[in-house]
Amino acid sequence: MDFKEKVAEIFTAVESDLSMDDALQLIEIPPSQDMGDYAVPCFKFAKKYRKSPAVVATEIAEKIGSVDLFEKIECNGPYVNFFVDKKHFAERILKQAYIEKENFGSTDVGQGKTVIVEFSSPNIAKPFHIGHIRSTLIGNSINKIYKYMGYNTVAINHLGDYGTQFGMLISAYKKWGTPEIVEAIEKDPIPELLKLYVRYNQEIETHPEYRDEARYWFKELENGNEEAQKLWSWFREVSLKEFNRVYDMFGIKFDSYAGESFYSDKMPAILDELEDKCLLKDSEGAKIVELSEYGLTDAVIQKSDGSTLYVTRDIAAATYRKRTYDFYKNIYVVGAPQKLHFDQWRKIIDLMGYDWAYDCVHIMFGTVSLEDGALATRKGRVVFLEDVLKKAIEKTTEIINERNPNLENKEEVAKQVGIGAVIFQELFNNRIKDYMFSWDKTLSFEGETGPYVQYTYARTCSLLRKAGTDIDDNVDYSVLTDKESFNIIRKLEGFKSAVLGSHDKYEPFFITRYIVSLAQEFNRFYHECPILVEDEEVKKARLLLTKTVNTVLKKGMELLGMETPEKM
Ligand code: ARG
Repeated sequence: MDFKEKVAEIFTAVESDLSMDDALQLIEIPPSQDMGDYAVPCFKFAKKYRKSPAVVATEIAEKIGSVDLFEKIECNGPYVNFFVDKKHFAERILKQAYIEKENFGSTDVGQGKTVIVEFSSPNIAKPFHIGHIRSTLIGNSINKIYKYMGYNTVAINHLGDYGTQFGMLISAYKKWGTPEIVEAIEKDPIPELLKLYVRYNQEIETHPEYRDEARYWFKELENGNEEAQKLWSWFREVSLKEFNRVYDMFGIKFDSYAGESFYSDKMPAILDELEDKCLLKDSEGAKIVELSEYGLTDAVIQKSDGSTLYVTRDIAAATYRKRTYDFYKNIYVVGAPQKLHFDQWRKIIDLMGYDWAYDCVHIMFGTVSLEDGALATRKGRVVFLEDVLKKAIEKTTEIINERNPNLENKEEVAKQVGIGAVIFQELFNNRIKDYMFSWDKTLSFEGETGPYVQYTYARTCSLLRKAGTDIDDNVDYSVLTDKESFNIIRKLEGFKSAVLGSHDKYEPFFITRYIVSLAQEFNRFYHECPILVEDEEVKKARLLLTKTVNTVLKKGMELLGMETPEKM
């Protein structure tokens, strides 16, 4: 039990109407430490007792009296203030951290439950755009957080590898696919395939028959035409090779790449089921599900030429996932522009009679705008993620060359820091908030940035390397009652709620903000309280604190998907 819970427990013992949860909600951390470490406002009870909040606070404080683990409990105006016994506090938190090690922030809320986290999901033969970057990084972090909470997670990349655009590509290739083009595609697949696609779309304007040809080829693909299938798998394969290079740079792994094409043979069963459940209506030859009575636009399930659509494949995917994994939650990390799609899709699943429709969650995010030219690449207005990462690494190499030219393993560290900086920046804000990407802000070693946290972590590693003594939890905890140490310990106590918050709200940024503030507290401590001192008792206690910060910073960064270099 942490101290906040202890406060709630003490409070509920004297205010028996109050539930533990309500008490926890009520507890505040006062702005300054001479007002105590925790405070409970009594406005809520004034009505009940028909007395002023200050009188109620006095009476409650008297009723509580003195309690073990707290130096004092007293009232201050309408608040009851709790002053923690700092030595006890230090001992309790640091011993717990020492025992739990890297599990210090975890819980077992996920025990026995399977959660699907679908993220990234780029489209074959098209560039990764900034929305895919966001999905990739937010999703990867959510996957890690859920794993840490004890869930069995399945990371799925729902590749956009099916649909009419493949009809266009096949048709385009058949028209213009010279040996030179084949060679160019092998060498640099995405931009070359994109060129074919763009050209096809342009030429449709003057050759309207191209539209039908593209439809024809997609239909052939769905019908299992060998030539169409062969071309399609080649496009898929070369694109995937490219995507995997980027995933490797981020150290991201998926458990499944079952994308849209995976469900192509599951379409007839879905259509039959919708038909049986009387959900399909004819509309000019197409089949739709009417949704207007739910405030949504109708969803087209099958086109008049018999081909299926994005939403149909998503229905098939959801039912397949439920059958295969019996998920507790099925999470889709996809940008806000697809909200209508997911609302329609969920309603359809609901109408099919599946109550798990509401265990499917669309985790949306806002857009990133680019500081002038920040992410523009040689390829024009489309962002190629790999170029962004390369640029981050390049710029970080320059910074390291200035700061620490003799660093061993410079290249590897520049990679870890450059990429880590991009991840940190991506996960720094509330995900729904739009933000502006800036190189200077992302790569700075000062301020609220990835390099700052990594650098602080490396500092703790260096202190621990130089320590020259064993670190255990057998220390004099009264050494750690000064303001700086206490502030860190209090931060450490909050790790679990930061992780839980990220879990509950699908918001990695609680952890991002948490680790940067822990790093700030540690640096304050580092400047005020020399660690590697003569006095063995002082040294041992401060090293234990350093070690705990080290473990928590590392875990926090890992949960975001960042690497944690030990020297930089
Ligand atoms: N491939 C889609 C896109 O790039 C995202 C897929 C999202 N996932 C899903 N199950 N619909 O826009």
